[in-house]
Amino acid sequence: MGAALVAVAALPSPAGRPQGGDAPPAKDTIFARKTVMDTIGSNMDQLEEMLEPGGKLDVADAREHLDTISVLLQTFPHLFPAATNQWQAGAIRDPAYDTFAAPVIWSNFPDFYARAMTGSKAALDASRTTKMVEFKAKVAELRSTCDGCHALYMKAE
Ligand code: HEC
Repeated sequence: MGAALVAVAALPSPAGRPQGGDAPPAKDTIFARKTVMDTIGSNMDQLEEMLEPGGKLDVADAREHLDTISVLLQTFPHLFPAATNQWQAGAIRDPAYDTFAAPVIWSNFPDFYARAMTGSKAALDASRTTKMVEFKAKVAELRSTCDGCHALYMKAE
């Protein structure tokens, strides 16, 4: 135990990272929230595949994807410190690292936050269904929370 702690303490700290109580660099927070959204997206893809012609509802699998989406949507709006408000019209952006979060998020944060919570709850509700028809309707409801938020708060380019 003691030896393990010493080994961890001896690791070099990552370059350029502020020490002590400072916030992590904005680019790391942007990368984290894009990863969170990417993960939400791939879980949603798996769910929507079950709804395709010939697809079938695997209740246990669907529940796992929906629980993941629900938890990640709760986490997501906590990744928006002011320093990460970096989208600019006409700027060249790297889709992997640069943010597409619309600046209006920061002037309308309570609505943005509420939409994330609504999405999270829609995922939780959907996770309780066991019948295909109901599942279909609930996943469509969840999808409308994604699309509604993106329409207002995500820039396409
Ligand atoms: C509360 C608003 C909100 C909700 C709800 C929401 N998103 Fe997003 N989403 C965003 C914002 C903002 C971004 C851009 C983040 C950035 O670039 O910093 C984004 C980005 C994405 C991306 C691109 C990620 C990347 O690699 O840059 C995907 C995929 C995505 N969302 C899927 C979904 C899906 C699927 C749902 C619903 C299950 C969903 N989102 C719900 C706001 C939301």
